[in-house]
Amino acid sequence: MLSLKGAALAGVILSGLSTWAAAGGPVDDKLIIDGETEITTRTEAADGVPFDEVTSGWLYRTEETRALEADSFQNPGMLYVERGEEIWNTVDGEAGKSCASCHGDGQEFLKGVGAAYPKWNAKAGKPFNIELQINQCREDNMQAKPYKFDSADQKALTTYIKNQSLGMPMHVDLDQGDMKSWWDRGKETYYTRMGQLNLSCSNCHEENNGNYIRADHLSQGNVNGFPTYRLKQADMVSLHNRFRGCIRDTRASFPAAFSDELMALEVYVTWRGTGLGIETPSVRQ
Ligand code: HEC
Ligand code: HEC
Repeated sequence: MLSLKGAALAGVILSGLSTWAAAGGPVDDKLIIDGETEITTRTEAADGVPFDEVTSGWLYRTEETRALEADSFQNPGMLYVERGEEIWNTVDGEAGKSCASCHGDGQEFLKGVGAAYPKWNAKAGKPFNIELQINQCREDNMQAKPYKFDSADQKALTTYIKNQSLGMPMHVDLDQGDMKSWWDRGKETYYTRMGQLNLSCSNCHEENNGNYIRADHLSQGNVNGFPTYRLKQADMVSLHNRFRGCIRDTRASFPAAFSDELMALEVYVTWRGTGLGIETPSVRQ
């Protein structure tokens, strides 16, 4: 049986979310993309992370879904990587520039960049994820309009940028700027119960990691695969879309994409998965 604290809470979950069942936890398998690039899907947790080992969401998916991600010719997310590369090289905006005009070859410039986000942005005085960095470059350096949240081009370009760090260990530098206080704020959100179901992120992804919720096998909720290709949606899903979906599932009202609340959550949750290899574009159900 599941190990939930408090009969009241268990009652709410059982009536609200149907059957929970105990399960075996993550599978014992290795992710090797195209038989070449091995991705770290398990690693010793960083100091202070409340697990012995952090695990990728890939280890909780079915064999078929895992196989799709391991084969870049079959992974539907790779089409977005290709599209992202096109955007990188295309002139847009009043300044008549492309990303490549300033940064050159994306495969060279971007190597390792996406693995180190979110990053402190001094100009904005807050942490930036890749989506916000793209928009800053579009506005300030290209005189182009910023992308709207979850526009097709935003997802493709973000996917392309993150894919240039495939297999590199995810990490955030908490010593930059005011990152520490954003981390604190993100942690507070992570442990706050929300919505009619009165559940926090930790109730699902920490206490019930490895259990089933309906047909879904609960992972630790790590972010190393984002943007991720979701079979259910047949589309790329951004991280803030996923956060909003998880919060909506507790029947709580959910904060806007790129709001301070979700940026703080991104800093904190990224830190929890320190050392996992970047999988973008990962494939999930
Ligand atoms: C009611 C349970 C529940 C709650 C509460 C919940 N989630 Fe989730 N979350 C899920 C399920 C189910 C999935 C899909 C299967 C999986 O990877 O766990 C998921 C997936 C995720 C993923 C994607 C993991 C991957 O590898 O693709 C992230 C990231 C995530 N959740 C973060 C959060 C955060 C942050 C919160 C708190 C704001 C939260 N979740 C709250 C149920 C929940
Ligand atoms: C006119 C030149 C110029 C153009 C065009 C430009 N950038 Fe930038 N970009 C910069 C400069 C300068 C910086 C570093 C300072 C800053 O943050 O403004 C930067 C920083 C970045 C970074 C952060 C790198 C790191 O190590 O954290 C990324 C990612 C990036 N740009 C992506 C893009 C993308 C994507 C585009 C196209 C949509 C683009 N840039 C267009 C000048 C440009």
